[in-house]
Amino acid sequence: MRKVALGVSSSISIYKACEVIRLFQSEGLGVRVIMTEKATRFIQPYLFTSLTGERTIVELFDDQQRPIEHISLVDEISLLLIAPATANIIGKLASGVADDFLSTFYLAAKCPVLVAPAMNEAMFLHPQTQENIRKLKALGVEFVEPDTGYLACGKKGPGRLASPETIVHHGLRLIKSREPFRDKVFLVTAGPTREFLDPVRFVSNPSSGKMGYELAREAWQLGAEVILVSGPTGLEAPAGVYLEKVNTAEEMREAVRKHYSRADVVLMAAAVADFRFKKTLSDKARKTEIGQTLEIEPTPDILEELGRQKQRQLLVGFAAETGRLGERAAEKMKKKKVDLMVGNDVSGPGVGFASDENEVTLFWPDGRSRKIPRMSKRKISQEIMAEIEVLLNERKGKS
Ligand code: C5P
Repeated sequence: MRKVALGVSSSISIYKACEVIRLFQSEGLGVRVIMTEKATRFIQPYLFTSLTGERTIVELFDDQQRPIEHISLVDEISLLLIAPATANIIGKLASGVADDFLSTFYLAAKCPVLVAPAMNEAMFLHPQTQENIRKLKALGVEFVEPDTGYLACGKKGPGRLASPETIVHHGLRLIKSREPFRDKVFLVTAGPTREFLDPVRFVSNPSSGKMGYELAREAWQLGAEVILVSGPTGLEAPAGVYLEKVNTAEEMREAVRKHYSRADVVLMAAAVADFRFKKTLSDKARKTEIGQTLEIEPTPDILEELGRQKQRQLLVGFAAETGRLGERAAEKMKKKKVDLMVGNDVSGPGVGFASDENEVTLFWPDGRSRKIPRMSKRKISQEIMAEIEVLLNERKGKS
């Protein structure tokens, strides 16, 4: 099992380290906590020991510790994360001071290092702190920018520890990033579109956008640059992902067109509305008028257009059906020239639209198919990325 070393220094936001541990564990990673001496004034090491099942390290010289543990632990970990990181620990790392376990371990570590600062805004913006951060960045250390908001001192400004989700998301990119995804541009669409009759009425569908957002998150963690074109959803874009919000199918088409020439992989996970009103009224229609205004026409088929203009892009389509999945997915795959079709039977309870889980079948143009049993959309996105990795490697082999 891969392991993360989590360095914890003395900030009020230390309690967020518990959530960081839990999130890594839910991704199947073990965590070993290293605390600074002063951090133990906020929280007893035993709390982290209980959460991780591994003894928390504080002292450089400790009778219970294996000799030179800072060296042996180096070989067990894939990431050194320091969260929260105070101005003091950042200063020590930047100048090579090694006077406790954490700062000594930093010098011995061979894996990627990620630092999530947390401090008062004046301390964070101080030229000395900024200089220390610049110095560490030049050495390859990565940073999770602190949030701006109310700080423990009562002031408002930058310095608040980033959210545990964002910290872990960055950490996972450093652990999972892989060759076929690095330097690749992924264009992902997500969510429904809204086709307006007038300023207050539209047709749409129940898509929540979850599948597309999970795909965007996963692609970024694997090392890709990700552009997410999203219809209206209640979701927050994963950190690092460039988000472009749209409403209608026409707006989605424009946004996708704009980025298409740069894209290496396109995942059309959006549930684009199939039809729209011939005329969108600029004023709210009166109820009595509506029956007479309802003339509809098909929306542009974005994926079909992309298929026609395809050059090197790898196209992944999504087909939500309520029966004859294989047949319909194969038909659409051919018509839209996609390289991988993700078929989704949305007739079952608890899967598909707006659900956290899904059950899909993957179809390839050569007639192969693979059923992915019911699992979380996060896990499904990982399975889809594994197949994309195979396709990217195949292409690389051919070129
Ligand atoms: O709606 P349909 O089942 O044909 O959708 C299959 C695929 O085509 C999906 O990937 C969807 O995002 C895409 N699509 C599109 N433009 C449309 C309708 C669907 O790009 N107008």
